[in-house]
Amino acid sequence: MTIISCIFRNILVAILILSGSCYCDKAGHYTFMKDATLAPKHARFDYIIIGGGTAGCALAATLSQNASVLVLERGGSPYDNPTASDIGNFANTLFNNTPNSWSQHFISEDGVYNTRPRVLGGGSVINGGFYTRAGDDYVDEAEWEMEEVEASYQWVEKKLVFKPQVMGWQSAFKDGLLEAGEFPDNGFTYDHIYGTKIGGTIFDHAGHRHTAANLLEYADPEAIVVYLHAYVHKILFTTKGSQKPKAYEVIFEDANGMFHKAELANNAMNEVILSAGAMGSPQLLMLSGVGPAAHLAAHGVNPLVLDHPMVGHEIADNPMNVVFIPSPQPVEVSLIQTVGITKFDSYIEGGSGLSLSFDLTRRFFDGVLNLFNETSRTTSRNILTHSIEVLLKSLDLGLDVMINGGLIVQKIDGPASKGHMELRNTDPRDNPSVTFNYYQEPEDLNKCVKGLNTVIQTINSKAFSKYKYPGVTARELLNLMLGLPINLRTRHVTSTFNLTQFCIDTVMSIWHYHGGCQVGRVVDKNYKVIGIDSLRVIDGSTFLKSPGTNPQATVMMLGR
Ligand SMILES: Cc1cc2nc3c(=O)[nH]c(=O)nc-3n(C[C@H](O)[C@H](O)[C@H](O)COP(=O)(O)OP(=O)(O)OC[C@H]3O[C@@H](n4cnc5c(N)ncnc54)[C@H](O)[C@@H]3O)c2cc1C
Ligand SMILES: *[C@@H]1O[C@H](CO)[C@@H](O)[C@H](O)[C@H]1NC(C)=O
Ligand SMILES: *[C@@H]1O[C@H](CO)[C@@H](O)[C@H](O)[C@H]1NC(C)=O
Ligand SMILES: *[C@@H]1O[C@H](CO)[C@@H](O)[C@H](O)[C@H]1NC(C)=O
Repeated sequence: MTIISCIFRNILVAILILSGSCYCDKAGHYTFMKDATLAPKHARFDYIIIGGGTAGCALAATLSQNASVLVLERGGSPYDNPTASDIGNFANTLFNNTPNSWSQHFISEDGVYNTRPRVLGGGSVINGGFYTRAGDDYVDEAEWEMEEVEASYQWVEKKLVFKPQVMGWQSAFKDGLLEAGEFPDNGFTYDHIYGTKIGGTIFDHAGHRHTAANLLEYADPEAIVVYLHAYVHKILFTTKGSQKPKAYEVIFEDANGMFHKAELANNAMNEVILSAGAMGSPQLLMLSGVGPAAHLAAHGVNPLVLDHPMVGHEIADNPMNVVFIPSPQPVEVSLIQTVGITKFDSYIEGGSGLSLSFDLTRRFFDGVLNLFNETSRTTSRNILTHSIEVLLKSLDLGLDVMINGGLIVQKIDGPASKGHMELRNTDPRDNPSVTFNYYQEPEDLNKCVKGLNTVIQTINSKAFSKYKYPGVTARELLNLMLGLPINLRTRHVTSTFNLTQFCIDTVMSIWHYHGGCQVGRVVDKNYKVIGIDSLRVIDGSTFLKSPGTNPQATVMMLGR
């Protein structure tokens, strides 16, 4: 019996052959995409978009139809290393945190690990790939035009989205959810409706990822310029000729440390648009002098352009709690395909067969030993002993490992608990400090407890039984999570198991953080920064809560 079965040499060889074989993506050889070192000292555009991420690419492609557009993206091109974003490399790319990696790690003040994208295409290059729309209620509350919403989702779907091939583990998980009472079975749909469904994915059938950067295929190549490795430092404002401060210029740094300026062409319609994400957009507003006055003064941000107390506030992250279920039989590699949308607003999702590189396994090694200690009193002992032997062996041989098992997670809607962000310094490269206050509001905690009960019922279902060792109980699996190094929080192991405490102790991020430049607080209903001219924000930082079960579809729709 093995928890972590080491990848056999022949599978490794197969992977090597596959990755060595030519995956020649014709997409992305955009003539308009250049390194920022090639940018002139000064340039003029109708629209300057800061951040070529999930929203930014959709927005840039759209605006280029009628105007000249500049995109400034701090990261590189996802096309430089197309296999790094394939489904089998999800964990390796996500956990790679080096100075220019696509993933930039941060730890919130809550003691929870998190990640910011740093690549053209943004989050869509490193995420789980699950694609699902927002519910009708969400669209109503946002006061978006239903017909435009529909057309914009379709514009995205035509280019990027696939129906997944549902195999053994995902299919057993789906049937388990139905057995746990999450019906009806809604089949395959992008719609956000109660019950159990299969959603879309941006991975094609060969496991290759399609990203928001592919939306640039819709752009007018004559009207758009994309600079990569272009780090924006500041937006500049003028007060000449208008009552309100007006954005007119953006300063960015290239990879050689040279500074460049991009200016708006002289037309009242022209704008700077922030699409730097929920961490980046509030940070850049503050660095540009737009934010809480006392906080900006404390960091020497000069001049103060506008005292905007809500910038960086009401940022939130949907908590996720995970249960790992070792499987007695092989599982397919799948990220999210099936989701249970409960009436109590917890979303149940799952994935199977994560592959981890040798390096990554090494880094988790201490944690695995802890796990062995924490649970040595339970009946899982033999399985864990064996798994550690297998792990040690694969590490000795310098091999990668594939985790033979699945993860079932619960994420809560909203959340009601909100946090705030503050600058640590004035370097745009550094992460600001952020506190999410996970589970501060009792309603969030209640949703988690109910969600975990559904997870437990799913694990115990007849349909799912072939992917769980018969001797292992759901309670033991939950206990196991208390021993894993999944966050930096104190774990409370009590004699009477307490699900509420489990939610608090094992909280993780599902990376759906949003807010910080919310509609009604920082931007108006048209996404214009309140009190400022020629400046909008278009990305997940404007959301009041996370859309649908997973946000990327709605982020791209908003960009369009
Ligand atoms: C690991 C992970 C898994 C996820 N799984 C899913 C999933 O399965 N399904 C789903 O729907 N959603 C998922 N998400 C969430 C989703 O990907 C994000 O909500 C979405 O990508 C956010 O889009 P955005 O446009 O707001 O920001 P981003 O996509 O982050 O774009 C911001 C861009 O701005 C750039 N930028 C920031 N600062 C600067 C600066 N100073 N100068 C220049 N450029 C700058 C960044 O490099 C980035 O490219 C996941 C996210 C992560 C990280
Ligand atoms: C471009 O201009 C045309 C004609 O004025 C208009 O119909 C269309 O909506 C515009 N498109 C965008 C993306 O602005
Ligand atoms: C396990 O716990 C024992 C006793 O608490 C300790 O001596 C040992 O170092 C621990 N082992 C690991 C690998 O952490
Ligand atoms: C479970 O934990 C929560 C959170 O710490 C606590 O409020 C509650 O009293 C605990 N319940 C029991 C039965 O111990």
